[in-house]
Amino acid sequence: MKLLVIFATLVVSINCLSQQLKESIMTKLEETGEKCMSKVGASDDDVAELIARKRPSRHEGMCMVHCFYEEFKIMDAEGNLSREESLKLLEPVKADDPDLYGKVIVIAKKCKEAVPKDSDLCLYATNLSECGVKESKAIGIEESFF
Ligand SMILES: *[C@@H]1O[C@H](CO)[C@@H](O)[C@H](O)[C@H]1NC(C)=O
Ligand SMILES: *[C@@H]1O[C@H](CO)[C@@H](O)[C@H](O)[C@H]1NC(C)=O
Repeated sequence: MKLLVIFATLVVSINCLSQQLKESIMTKLEETGEKCMSKVGASDDDVAELIARKRPSRHEGMCMVHCFYEEFKIMDAEGNLSREESLKLLEPVKADDPDLYGKVIVIAKKCKEAVPKDSDLCLYATNLSECGVKESKAIGIEESFF
C-alpha cells in the first residue's frame, strides 16, 4: 500500500500540472493500484520494479501494467487500444498543460504503431508502456503517463 502511494506520487510529481489535478490523479492511481494488485496477484516487489521504471521481471508485474490500461479503459478485453477513451482520460491535462497534452498524444500514436500486438496482453501492455517511457525521455518530458 505504501508503495502504491510512492508510485502515484512519482507519476504525478514530474510535470507542472495543477495541485488539484495531481491529487485527483493520485487518488485514482492508488485505488486502481490496490485493485490491480489483488486482481493479478502482484507482490510489493512487482510494484517496486514499476516504481523503479524497470521492465517487470515477473509476468504478474506485466499484468499490473495491463490491469492499469484496462481499468482506465485504454485497452479493451481484446487488446484493442481506444483512442476515444485515451483522449477522454487526457482531457483534464489539455486544459492544464496543452503542450504536455500534445506531446503525450504524439507519443501514444507513435507507440501504438511501433509496438506489435501480442496475444499475451500483459506483454503487449508492458511493451507499449516501455515504448512510452523511451519516447518521453527522447523528447525530454518525464514518463508521467506511461
Ligand atoms: C478489436 O480489433 C479487432 C481487429 O481490428 C476487431 O476485429 C475487433 O472487433 C475489435 N474488438 C473490439 C471489442 O472492438
Ligand atoms: C516485447 O519486448 C521484449 C523486450 O524488449 C521483446 O523481446 C519482445 O519481442 C516484445 N514483444 C512484442 C510482441 O513486441
